[in-house]
This record gives sequence, structure tokens and C-alpha cells, in this order.
Amino acid sequence: MCGIVGYLGEKNTKEILLDGLKELEYRGYDSAGIAVLENGNFSNFKAVGKLVNLEDKTKDYETKGFAAGIGHTRWATHGKPTELNAHPHLGESSYVVHNGIIENYAEIKKELIRKGVTFLSQTDTEVIVHQFEKNLKSELNALKAFSKTISELNGAYAILLVTKSEPDTIFFAKHGSPMLVGISCDDNEGSSERDNTMSCEKYFASSDTPLIGHCSDVNYFEDGDYGYVTSDEIVIFDKDGAKKDPIFSALSQNKLSAQKDGFRFFMEKEIYEQSDVISDTLMGRVGDEEIHFDELDKTLFNGINEIKLCACGTSYHAAMTASYLFERYSKIRTTLEIASEFRYRDPIMSKDTLFVVISQSGETADTLETLKMAKKAGLKTLVICNVDNSSMVRLADACILTRAGIEKGVASTKAFATQVTVFWMLSLYIAKLKNSLEDQKIARQVSLLREIPTHVKVTDEMHERIKRLSKRYLHGHGFFFIGRDVFYPLALEGALKLKEISYLHAEGYPSGEMKHGPIALADPELFTIALLPEHLHYEKSKSNVEELSARDSTICAISALEFDKADDFVQISTCQDYMLEFFEMMIVVQLLSLEISIRLGNDVDMPRNLAKSVTVE
Ligand code: F6R
Repeated sequence: MCGIVGYLGEKNTKEILLDGLKELEYRGYDSAGIAVLENGNFSNFKAVGKLVNLEDKTKDYETKGFAAGIGHTRWATHGKPTELNAHPHLGESSYVVHNGIIENYAEIKKELIRKGVTFLSQTDTEVIVHQFEKNLKSELNALKAFSKTISELNGAYAILLVTKSEPDTIFFAKHGSPMLVGISCDDNEGSSERDNTMSCEKYFASSDTPLIGHCSDVNYFEDGDYGYVTSDEIVIFDKDGAKKDPIFSALSQNKLSAQKDGFRFFMEKEIYEQSDVISDTLMGRVGDEEIHFDELDKTLFNGINEIKLCACGTSYHAAMTASYLFERYSKIRTTLEIASEFRYRDPIMSKDTLFVVISQSGETADTLETLKMAKKAGLKTLVICNVDNSSMVRLADACILTRAGIEKGVASTKAFATQVTVFWMLSLYIAKLKNSLEDQKIARQVSLLREIPTHVKVTDEMHERIKRLSKRYLHGHGFFFIGRDVFYPLALEGALKLKEISYLHAEGYPSGEMKHGPIALADPELFTIALLPEHLHYEKSKSNVEELSARDSTICAISALEFDKADDFVQISTCQDYMLEFFEMMIVVQLLSLEISIRLGNDVDMPRNLAKSVTVE
């Protein structure tokens, strides 16, 4: 995910910016850049890939005195990870960095191009700096031009801008994306209300960590805030243009807890992040009535009669979900393979098969090996992956990035959510290509896709309910997560999450299969987590749960519809479609595992015996 830093002062601006960006590395990025205005001149450096590349480019550059600098790590959304697309973006005499999305960028861009402005990048961000410079020509001063520009933007943003027309100043604006300003004043200690006129350096960042060690006090901007800082002032206006004082609070000096943004564990933070990262996954890909994957060449699907999906663990569960969607919407035969099995079983591979590997890391040894096998056999290959430039991304013919950002919790959550989102989109993309679903049905699905971010928002009420409930599920002789259709892979995923971090035995099972054996285990100490979607096979799934209830298994039902045979019930909201129910239930099973594990006193983020990336067989 993108990160922002800024510094205004007399210290070593280059180092402060680069160190700040390093503190944001954990969020994930694929390019980075800085721009520094010193003595009326700009210095600007950008590099693709890791920060060492940027460090290398700046090694002969030094700042000597007072300067205003901004920096950015970019996780590509609009446009590929190239130097031209990396921030800061340049106008004629100003630079800007931006997190978030400018929803009306296309219309602003069109108008600016009509007026003769040349764009260098494919990003939405670049419109900000050109629009600012256009406004500078008609407004009285840079502040007025900046506030006019902000009022013309729709979307979510955290913005820093430096301009030669006001050289000792950094302009800022925040709406929907986090940003804070920190101060370090040697002569004023620990007060919560700072003297706003005192002379001191100013630090900006999109989260706490870059400021730790530099600042004792910070002001978190609120949505709608904009303004500027100089060495003497921090001037903030609210969304109605009224001036307001900064409210400083002491900055915690604990980096790890700052990285967790106040959550107890990375896994918890990542569960909460899912709404935002899914918005990133959808960005630029969900059109009005169809799906666009600019990164795919449509000829990839020529002559393809089968899709083979191959992965491990959680990624395998996402693949299994895809197998239902591909057959249902794209009407293409789809088979599923566990990578560690596939690689040793002399599989038959025919050239009319598109071989798709799915991996969060792009480095999992078993999955990587199957990709090599498919390539060797001459199959076309596609990877669905979260890490750009990973081994699988470099090897496959085509790639779709899931854009989940760095996932730190060993138990995968947001990676799974974004994989399923990509697959839902891909099933509709192929449906359009193959003409296998009426346009109107595709359009409906596309509009449902846009609803996912709302359905995966964790509410306090839901989290509290699951927290309370979790205390009843700390013992027993095991869990069965059960579901039908796509809720079967979700059941598998729920069981895997619980196993990984609680060390309790859990299995995922197709609801209809319980009576063929496992039901023999039913007793009050067997916990059944039943996924009961309103919009898919509800009656059939309900009967399966009733069979277990009749044999005294303890049932926790997850559904939008009240279910009186359950011992416990978690109600999701009423959804328009089973896939939206899927995403709501996904949140419930993730939170349930998290809370059970916390109650058992386990290390949620680093469960015993597990590694984040399994690069050995
Ligand atoms: C479970 C989990 C693992 C991974 C598996 C594949 O929470 O994280 O099961 O899904 O090791 O890893 P990737 O997706 O990186 O190939």
C-alpha cells in the first residue's frame, strides 16, 4: 500500500525522507521517490523496486540547509510500477505525492489535455499537480490555488504538495486516507496544546512509524482538513474552510505497535483492512457493465477449453471457490489441483488448458514447480499473485496482481479475500469473452462486485458478538465447518484458519457429505460451524444442519436468516447475492479464529511450526 512522508526543516532532509520511507516498507510497494525544494531548486529521484534502488540513485545527493521535502512509496493501482508512474509527480514548478484515489481524475485530465497540458504518467495523481498549477494562474496565491484544487477533487486522498511559488512551505490535504503532522521542538516539552507560532521543524507521514524517534507530539488530520506548514506555523482549515488549531497528542514510541495501527495483532489489522484492499483490487478493473484487465492480452484465452487451477493452502481454497464461479459464469471446464500432489503424479497436460497458479507470495516451492511443469509442457500460464516481481510473476505468461499489500500475519486473510475478488472478476471477464453469460447478467454481477468493500467492513457490534461467543468454543473434541458450493471452500478456509492459530482440531466439510461418515462424531462436544447462505441452497444446507442438531452436535450457525435449531447464531446482514454473503461469512470465520486464539493465549501472528512463505518442499 502506498505511503507518504514529508519534512520541512534544516536537518538532513534526504536521510529523513528515506528513513521515513523505510519505516513504511512493511506496507508493501513497488516503486518510490522523493522531491526536495532547497534554495528555490527542486531535486527529484525515483526508482522502481526496493528502496535500495532509490538510495543508490540519491547516493551523491545531499541537502545542506533548510529544505521542504516529500516522499512516497507506491503500490501500483493506476498504471504499471514504472519510474514515470512513481510519485512525486511534477507539474511545471511543483511536486505532489498522493495516497488514495481521485475518482474524477479522467474528466479533470481530459479538460487539462484540452488546455494543452502534457501528462507523463498513467496515474490519477498527476492531475492534482497540473490542476493546482492551472489554478495558480487565476488565484491570488498558492494557498487559494491549493484549496480550489482540493475542492475540485472527488475520492479519497492524503496529499502533500511543494511548489516554487511558495518555497518554504508544504501544503497538505486529507480526506479518507490517513495522514498526520508531527513536531519536534527542543524548547517545549510534553504539552498537549502546542504554541502554534513557534519555530520548529515539521514531519508528515501517512502513519505513525516514520515519525517515531523524531517527534514527541503529533496532530492526526481529520477528513476535510487542508492547509500548509512553514517553519513557523501549522495552518489547518476544516472542510468548510474554517481555520482550526492543531490538537497534539503524545506519540507512542513503540514501532511495532505503531505498525499495527492500534490493533492487537497484524492478523486483526489485516481483517479490518479488507474493505480498503478489496477496493484497490477492484480499482480500474470494474467498468460500468463489464470487467477490464488491462494487464491481460485477450488472446491468452484463444483455443482454451479448460482451466486448471493449482495452489496450496489458503490459495487453494480461493482456487476452489473459483472453480465454481468459472463453471457457473464462464461455462468453462475447470479442474483443481493441490500443487504438492500435482507435481509428482505424472499429470496429463493438454495444450487447450490454461494453467493458473494462485499464490500470495509467488514463491511457494510446490506451486512454483507446477508452473515450471506447465510451461515445459507448452501450456499457456497465468498467475494470480500478491507480490509483483516474485518468481511466479516473472515466470508466468500473464499475471493479475491481487493488490492486498504486505500480509504480515502468517494466517492469510486479506490475501484470500483479494484472490476471491480477482476470481469473481475473472469469471465475468471470461464470460464476456466467450459470450457465455448475457450482458445484462454480467452487468448485474459487476454491480454486485462493487458492493464487496461495504460487506467486509467489520462492525464493532459484530466483533463484540464474536468476542463474547468465542469463550464457548475453547474445548471440545473438534470443529466441523460445513457449507455447500462456494461455501464449502469457505468452510475449508475457516477450518484452516482455526487450526493454524488455535491449534484446535478443525475440518472443513461439504454439508451434504456429513451423513456419509463424519456425523458419527456428533455429540455436544463436537462444534459445527454452519454456513447457511440465504441465496444458495438454503433449504438443503439447513436440512444438513438439522441432521447434526438432532444428534446433539453444538451448532453455531452463520446466516442472514434466523435459525432456531442453532445453539449459537451469528447474523450477517441481508445481502443481494450469495457471493456477498460469502464475503460477510468470511469475516465471521476469520474473527472467530482470531478471538479463540487470543483467548487461548496463542501468538496469533506467528503460530507455532508455520512460516509465511513456504519455499521448501
Ligand atoms: C494459510 C496460509 C497458507 C498459504 C500457503 C500458500 O493461512 O497462509 O496455507 O496459503 O502456504 O502460500 P502462497 O499463497 O504464498 O503460495
